[in-house]
Amino acid sequence: MSNLSLKAGAVVPAAGQGARFGEKKQFKLLGRRPLLFHTLTSFLECDDIAEIVVVVSEEDIEMTSRELASFTSAKPVKTVAGGARRQDSVLNGCLALSENVEIIAVHDAARPFVTPELISATIAGCNKADGCIAALPSKDTVKQVAENNIQRTIDRDSTWLAQTPQTFHKDILINALQHDMVATDEASMVEATGGTVAVTEGFAGNFKITTGEDWQLAENIIND
Ligand code: CTP
Ligand code: MG
Repeated sequence: MSNLSLKAGAVVPAAGQGARFGEKKQFKLLGRRPLLFHTLTSFLECDDIAEIVVVVSEEDIEMTSRELASFTSAKPVKTVAGGARRQDSVLNGCLALSENVEIIAVHDAARPFVTPELISATIAGCNKADGCIAALPSKDTVKQVAENNIQRTIDRDSTWLAQTPQTFHKDILINALQHDMVATDEASMVEATGGTVAVTEGFAGNFKITTGEDWQLAENIIND
């Protein structure tokens, strides 16, 4: 185990509506299996992950747990209901992990190409910080824009694009998630509540499927 043997669990939020995609992408077949199952495979294969909680909408719980039962797995996989915002879904997932889990790796269901190695790297990063996330150094220059006008240019050499897994010590993550704020990832909530978050280098293939174009890219990779 890479993290001083602290027990790690995974929370996989899959309770989104897929508004930008046009349907619930997490259950759509990518090759022969639903997108969500591709994602879960890396977590099942990662020796540093002891248990997994999948978060889906209330109406999808029954179908998801039935389908997951067909997975032969040496580790417990639970299905729980999500909430309106991603952070609500993640919090529900965190609270469903076993009491003795001390490290939580949060990973988008919509990033099917994550690897066991990247998951382990974020867990290892928690040895030296409150959390550690996968991120990519930006190749483009990033501009902050309002009403089509550039407000400022962000120094490219210090700009990284956040991915998931985003992995944290449990109490720090749960405390951050209980704060009332608008956030698009867990790291920003932990940062805002005073936590230290490290980055480990992810890879371009660990992209999030957001639009139909991303789906096409994922199908090309699967069919290769
Ligand atoms: N998610 C979730 N609960 C929510 C919102 C999002 O569990 N209330 C999950 C999604 O299922 C997805 C991940 O968070 O796996 C990343 O979110 P995103 O790519 O934005 O997916 P959706 O929210 O489904 O898409 P959209 O924003 O276009 O509606
Ligand atoms: Mg969303």
